[in-house]
Amino acid sequence: MHKIIEELEKRRERARLGGGKERISRQHAKGKLTARERIELLLDPGTFEEWDMFVEHRCVDFGMNKQTIPGDGVVIGYGTINGRLVFVFSQDFTVFGGSLSESHAAKISKIMDQAMNVGAPVIGLNDSGGARIQEGVASLAGYAEVFQRNVEASGVIPQISVIMGPCAGGAVYSPAITDFIFMVEDTSYMFVTGPDVVKTVTHEEVTHEELGGAATHTSKSGVAHNAFANDVEALLYLRRFVDFLPANNKEKPPVRPTPDNPDRVEMSLDTMIPANPNKPYDMKELIEKVVDEGDFFELQPDYAANIIIGFARMEGSTVGVVANQPMVLAGCLDIDSSIKAARFVRFCDAFNIPIITFVDVPGFLPGTAQELGGIIKHGAKLLYAFAEATVPKVTVITRKAYGGAYDVMSSKHIRGDVNFAWPSAEIAVMGPKGAVEIIFRGDLDSEEKVKARTDEYRERFANPFIAGNRGFIDDVIMPHNTRVRICRSLRMLKNKKIENPWKKHGNIPL
Ligand code: HXC
Repeated sequence: MHKIIEELEKRRERARLGGGKERISRQHAKGKLTARERIELLLDPGTFEEWDMFVEHRCVDFGMNKQTIPGDGVVIGYGTINGRLVFVFSQDFTVFGGSLSESHAAKISKIMDQAMNVGAPVIGLNDSGGARIQEGVASLAGYAEVFQRNVEASGVIPQISVIMGPCAGGAVYSPAITDFIFMVEDTSYMFVTGPDVVKTVTHEEVTHEELGGAATHTSKSGVAHNAFANDVEALLYLRRFVDFLPANNKEKPPVRPTPDNPDRVEMSLDTMIPANPNKPYDMKELIEKVVDEGDFFELQPDYAANIIIGFARMEGSTVGVVANQPMVLAGCLDIDSSIKAARFVRFCDAFNIPIITFVDVPGFLPGTAQELGGIIKHGAKLLYAFAEATVPKVTVITRKAYGGAYDVMSSKHIRGDVNFAWPSAEIAVMGPKGAVEIIFRGDLDSEEKVKARTDEYRERFANPFIAGNRGFIDDVIMPHNTRVRICRSLRMLKNKKIENPWKKHGNIPL
């Protein structure tokens, strides 16, 4: 027995060393942690239960039968984050560059299956050179096994990817299907084809960083949600992030007790909206003043910043916040912002997270770039997402709600449960200036006339009372009471239950 235990310890020791001390030093020299160090930081101390430590690849080609390393380049298992169960896989770059073999893929699939069986999130820490080249199609098959599971798990358990090294080729498609992608600055990159292939095919010279670094994906492509300065920061933020999410689609998000009073009035909101309707204000500040303890976890802050999305809490319960940002493109909806918010709304709806929508939108962004880029199809995504959502939906119109964008932004007509407006709200088919130019086209021969007609229009239509008159908004509220009124509404909606008609699935305009 003693001998067997010694043997076990020896084998464990070997597995823990991964690709060996030298490769671990190289990993550290790049500013990266090892796969196991990352798991230790991510999970509550002492909670990690590792599986498949002794799994090895079965490849015999290219001398691979002489090179086996226990664990085969990925550490898998489960543990807790602030006491809540999560499953993790963490690719080990020190073992064959973290490349994915058939066995490596089977390990990832194993914890995904288990996570589905028990209903808990899967977190993937990606650091891999892609398909294990020596294994050929067996590796591709392994990827597809993982993709299939990603798709089946979508909307059932939260899936989060953290890119902490290379992620290239078809390998990008597993993270792409997951709900959230976080990246580490300077050490991670994602692309389908790398700079060398790009140069051969299109003759473009581009660096790894420009093509697929964290800055690129969080500000230009919108592929990733947030970027963090290093591994430690990314993992600590991830712990905070997971706290917002329910374990699966049958559970409600966790409730965290808060000292922030639901009846807190916030007088500064009364003076938040500038007198001049063309002057912007910071919607983020407004959100922080309303939510519990000003704690707002913003997602994709550097991409399509004309719309704000993120998680916060009200009376301790998670809410998803969607808000137009008047500071960027005057808060107009465009292609990127519609796609960004639509995916977020669908996540919230899939995982029982109520949605609070703050509206200050002058309309859809005009222009050939938008029309030719398909704003019709992409704008429809946001409309579709809000309209199909059955979670509690509370909407607050702070200022402009014009045209189609009024309908889209969780209006009463697409099943907004509680729709409030501030006294400063202007709910109309379009802005006063545009409206006057059309209605009074033949009668605007002087500046004075334009001004008089515009004032008249604003007085008559650019207010919340016409919509209030028809019950399209439930109440005009004082800005300082916004938190109180939202908290009460969410309390009332706690047991909301409505269902969409049965269907295999809808056909969102992709
Ligand atoms: C097998 C690999 C590997 C791979 C890296 N290694 N990638 N082994 N298959 N895909 C090994 C290296 O041989 C090396 O082994 C060790 O990992 C570290 O690699 P280095 O090159 O020394 O590291 P670095 O200089 O940091 O470069 C990292 C890298 C580079 C940029 C990722 O290794 C690289 O370009 N690898 C190949 C990438 C690739 O073409 N992958 C296949 C893409 S196709 P030793 O023993 O020296 O330490 C694909 C299709 C997926 O992924 C389709 C899914 C549908």
